[in-house]
Amino acid sequence: MASGKPFVIAIDGPAAAGKGTLAERLAAHYGLAYLDTGLLYRAIGRLMADRGFDLDDPVIAGQIAEALDPEDLTHPGLRGREAGEFASRVAVHPSVRSALVAFQRGFAGRAPGAVLDGRDIGTVICPDADVKIFVTASPEVRARRRTDELAAKGRDVDYERILAEVRERDARDSGRATAPLKAADDAVILDTSALDREGAFRAAVAIVDARR
Ligand code: CDP
Repeated sequence: MASGKPFVIAIDGPAAAGKGTLAERLAAHYGLAYLDTGLLYRAIGRLMADRGFDLDDPVIAGQIAEALDPEDLTHPGLRGREAGEFASRVAVHPSVRSALVAFQRGFAGRAPGAVLDGRDIGTVICPDADVKIFVTASPEVRARRRTDELAAKGRDVDYERILAEVRERDARDSGRATAPLKAADDAVILDTSALDREGAFRAAVAIVDARR
């Protein structure tokens, strides 16, 4: 994989499906770069909220997206639930999405290649990716995983509330007009409802190896 055209793996799927962990491990396994594209949307949402802007304003959101700096991705408050919620609100704006296309494609185009995870990698950003995996799991399983993850960090969380948030984010991400969450026609669907992290990783490696 070290020579020739960059090798690109696109990982898409709904909130809390385990895309991030999987994508990062695949990148390490194949010696590829890794980009968590959710972080871009999280950073824009966070910057807007911190500056008191209306997250639903497409013009300001687009300007913030155009001016996004790699430094902004190191903001400490990007991983939490609140930033995820802000991200999904700014991610509906075409102005925001189009401002981020060149950066993501540039990242994917550098040798030896990359793993990108998000919602529209296989459909919009890298339609020619060598491998596309759509990682999913039932809303209940995803909510359970997220609840356990937060509880392990000592947070007091309610499963029912997390499940409602997961459903709300699914509806917003799948229902938006621009680049909605959906599997590309040529993506392999990986349902991790009955798989642990190791099982999901092994299944993904089998999918990638079959296409190399
Ligand atoms: O890890 P989790 O799935 O909760 O969140 P994330 O991947 O960081 O994405 C946060 C939000 O950003 C999503 O709910 C999407 O609305 C948006 N997003 C997007 O629209 N397109 C991407 N390529 C990545 C994230």
